[in-house]
Amino acid sequence: MFYKYLDFPKLPSNLEAMCLDIDNLAPNTKWPEPKNLDKISVDYPTENFAKYKQYMVPKEVLVWLVDNGIVHKGIRIARIHCMFDGPRVYPHFDYPRTFAINYLLTDSTATTCFYKHKTNSNLQPTRSNELFSPDEIELIDSVILEPRCWHQLDVTAIHNVENITVPRVALTLSDK
Ligand SMILES: [Fe+2]
Repeated sequence: MFYKYLDFPKLPSNLEAMCLDIDNLAPNTKWPEPKNLDKISVDYPTENFAKYKQYMVPKEVLVWLVDNGIVHKGIRIARIHCMFDGPRVYPHFDYPRTFAINYLLTDSTATTCFYKHKTNSNLQPTRSNELFSPDEIELIDSVILEPRCWHQLDVTAIHNVENITVPRVALTLSDK
């Protein structure tokens, strides 16, 4: 199983509104650009892909996450991320993080997909934001994740999101 729902409380509506006020969030300027974008773009025109941006979590939201035991000592990174202006994100590994605990803040019918590599089943993440072209990979699991339900994803598997029709904003927590 590449995902599971977690029994954590829902974010209060005033804090949710704060997270969705993207224009007033601080961008995460350290977010790395993908390394092999040129290679992928040959197979898939860039305009088929959503843009991806990360923002810092407002302090009031962080305090609530700690007070409710959602951010605990195994979690060292908390961000807000946004996928927009395109139907899908590139299939990728997350690295160096080994899990993602996410909470979707927007309603969406987008599908989170997990893949295996066709020729190298033991492939492990080794660098940040490694991308895969569609002909390298094979779909092995997919799910339309419920909005406003905490869930954990195995981001050491190749994964992406398909069918993004509206901006997809989420809290994302991880170990690294
Ligand atoms: Fe990811």
